[in-house]
Amino acid sequence: MLTLLVINFRSAMIAFSERRRLTVAVFAFIVTTLLFLTLHQTHATEAIRVRIGIGQNSENTGYSKLSNDIYRTGTGFTNGSAPFLANGKGRFAYVTFLSGTVDGPKDLEEDNYFVATRILVWQLLHKPETRTNGIDVVVMVTPSVSESRRARLAKDGAIIHAVDFLHVENDQWIHAAQHRWDDVTTKLRAWEMTQYSRILMLDGDTMLRLPLDGVFDDKGAKVRQTKNQNTYTPLEGEAPLPGTYLLGSLSEVWDCTHDFPPKDDTDLKKISKMNAGFMLLAPSLPAFDYYRSLLNMTDAFDPKDPEQNLLNHAHRWDGPMPWTEVNHKWNIRCPTEKDFKKGLVSMHEKWWTQPYLYENENVKDFLRAQRWEMKGWYDAWDLRYA
Ligand SMILES: *[C@@H]1O[C@H](CO)[C@@H](O)[C@H](O)[C@H]1NC(C)=O
Ligand SMILES: *[C@@H]1O[C@H](CO)[C@@H](O)[C@H](O)[C@H]1NC(C)=O
Repeated sequence: MLTLLVINFRSAMIAFSERRRLTVAVFAFIVTTLLFLTLHQTHATEAIRVRIGIGQNSENTGYSKLSNDIYRTGTGFTNGSAPFLANGKGRFAYVTFLSGTVDGPKDLEEDNYFVATRILVWQLLHKPETRTNGIDVVVMVTPSVSESRRARLAKDGAIIHAVDFLHVENDQWIHAAQHRWDDVTTKLRAWEMTQYSRILMLDGDTMLRLPLDGVFDDKGAKVRQTKNQNTYTPLEGEAPLPGTYLLGSLSEVWDCTHDFPPKDDTDLKKISKMNAGFMLLAPSLPAFDYYRSLLNMTDAFDPKDPEQNLLNHAHRWDGPMPWTEVNHKWNIRCPTEKDFKKGLVSMHEKWWTQPYLYENENVKDFLRAQRWEMKGWYDAWDLRYA
């Protein structure tokens, strides 16, 4: 009886441990399969990157850091995500603005501003010498940008952020001034993109020579406290000042005769006037509301270059929120061969026309070459992987 019991017990144990072994075996199989698939995927992905020359420059320590390139869908604007990561690091973005009224032939290849935007996206995301190490690349598009343009930019790897034109009740006084600039005030919508802690806003006709990521560490790129916020008396219709703000930028040079870095007294048009083609900002709804209130106040600023003059007014150097200067190496207009030799990182200059670069032939060649390098890169990419 006892023997029978022992035998029964033993066979039960064997059955049990066999079942457990089976469970373990199934589990191990699943884990191994998943591991294999993950590794295989990574290898395949790396193989593609190697094939197209991504991740080959010496400054990159590994492929794993390259989260921000061809594998994004191009449409997933990260709505609702937090501007700071769990480790306290801010989420950053490069944002460029595109609107149809600026320049809009039917043939995309003939649309110079559109092509310039593609060059910028390509340089920021793909070109080994200039691409970012993980910062989002966003194109803000207005309703006047065609579907074909949006689709092409998304295919190129950009995040497409569609916005409506920015209007307030009493802004006729701005829009009457110069038709061409009708929609540039919409650029101010970058301040609404609060899923990012900081943004570098670049005009579409910006070209990179070197990576720009370091600009976020510039001492002019820090969020500041508004001065005398409590004693400031707003004008009629002016919204309350935001408690903190960031506007980091550069004053414009006169022309190609500047030194590098340019000298305040002789080379810069006006030391306290910033250029809205290159702006570091911290998205903030209070700041956005403040700017909207200025758009709403007739003659609050000179409406000639609306968004640039509005910001120069809101962030005047003798006001409560003075804008900050970043190092001139990050960006310049009228770039010269000397600037290139001295380490200029990016420039505000068109690839299709450079009437003021004079004898700087190497710079002109560089600008024109980017257009065709970009085109060739994407043509090859489309052929092989589209
Ligand atoms: C992001 O959110 C805004 C406002 O909630 C919405 O209008 C927009 O369509 C969203 N964008 C995407 C890509 O989901
Ligand atoms: C613009 O001004 C009108 C009054 O003229 C006011 O009702 C409206 O709220 C203002 N809008 C903004 C964005 O400040």
